[in-house]
Amino acid sequence: MENISFLGKLFGVIELATIRKEFPILSRAVNGSEIIYFDNAATTQKPHTVLDVSRRYYEEYNANIHRGTHLLAREATAAHEAARETVARYIGAGDAREVIFTSGATDSLNLAAFTLGDDLREGDEVLISTLEHHSNIVPWQMICERRGAVLRVIPCNEDGSLPESVLPYLSEKTKILSITWISNAFGTVNPVKSYVQEAKSRGVTVVVDASQAAPHLKIDVAEIGCDMLAFSGHKVYAPTGIGVLWGRYDLLATLPPYRGGGEMIKEVRFEGTTYNEPPFRYEAGTPNIEGGIALAAACDFVNEVGLEKIQAHENALMRAAETKLAGISGLRMFGPPNRCGALSFAVEGVHAYDLGTFLDQMGVAVRTGHHCCQPLMHRFGITGTTRASFAMYNSLDEVEKFGECLKRAVAMLR
Ligand code: ALA
Repeated sequence: MENISFLGKLFGVIELATIRKEFPILSRAVNGSEIIYFDNAATTQKPHTVLDVSRRYYEEYNANIHRGTHLLAREATAAHEAARETVARYIGAGDAREVIFTSGATDSLNLAAFTLGDDLREGDEVLISTLEHHSNIVPWQMICERRGAVLRVIPCNEDGSLPESVLPYLSEKTKILSITWISNAFGTVNPVKSYVQEAKSRGVTVVVDASQAAPHLKIDVAEIGCDMLAFSGHKVYAPTGIGVLWGRYDLLATLPPYRGGGEMIKEVRFEGTTYNEPPFRYEAGTPNIEGGIALAAACDFVNEVGLEKIQAHENALMRAAETKLAGISGLRMFGPPNRCGALSFAVEGVHAYDLGTFLDQMGVAVRTGHHCCQPLMHRFGITGTTRASFAMYNSLDEVEKFGECLKRAVAMLR
């Protein structure tokens, strides 16, 4: 495991209460019970500080950016570009021009596929893994089809982990490796750093899908050594509709634009158009201005609480949940023991959807189904799982209640 500690240490009672108070939605009741929100891998809840920043933007300085000379436009532009700097620092990028704001990780991965993929030739290979989300499969399938390239897949071990080394899956023809850091379906933490090292030593361009890593692990793009990295804001306590594609500047500077429109151009003539420098070359149209500013506020919030402490707290919850679930007969947990963030399971004789519905009746929100990972489900011969996923504001008490609710639901459904 790459410098990742899987030891747990819960927040103190007061510390957790202070964190929970930041999230207004947590005081909401669901079906007569206090909500237990364990669907954080799908999206996280938003703290006051993020909500306040969004509101303040619209109330005080809403204007389009990079276009106006008036005060509001200047303020909005300054805030948006300051947000880019904050996000760059959050992921260890030395140059804010390497941060492209997108609408989310799906958009980021499409951008990566359709810019990097422009260079693919007939017979070239793109390598992904069995653990990928559809967002890191379909865009590559689409570009491979257009270019006559071949999509290859790293197989997954029986325990839901990937092979230790990617070398056996790289060929002379491999041009791109696109790999998820943490599986959204099983919580598997993949050996991305060693994969990146191995692939780079063979001249392969590497994209990392950090969607599930961003809320749990410290991201340092320089240390990872990848070429591009994608994540969504809404999984890191920011609003939906904002995401990031980070790319090495020298690489971004050589790639073609992805979408055409305003902002991404230098000069437009009917005879032809020249393009702006990165990141603007990849940000056609009015961006999600408030979203970028709110994402920066979310990054600040996570830093203030402390990513290491968050990780330790979530690990403690995970280990407690595993122990609780291990006591339920016929329950199978997916993924290796290093799982982070998400705990996926199936119960013999019980359909995941029914389980999810019963849990909802008791105020517990989980996700059920294929988690946008149909090929992974096929690999394990299942149609779906039930997934509990944790965030900084979850408590041991919630894990205990979840375990009890689960036992009751299973008893009723069997
Ligand atoms: N990718 C998100 C999930 O795993 C939506 O739930």
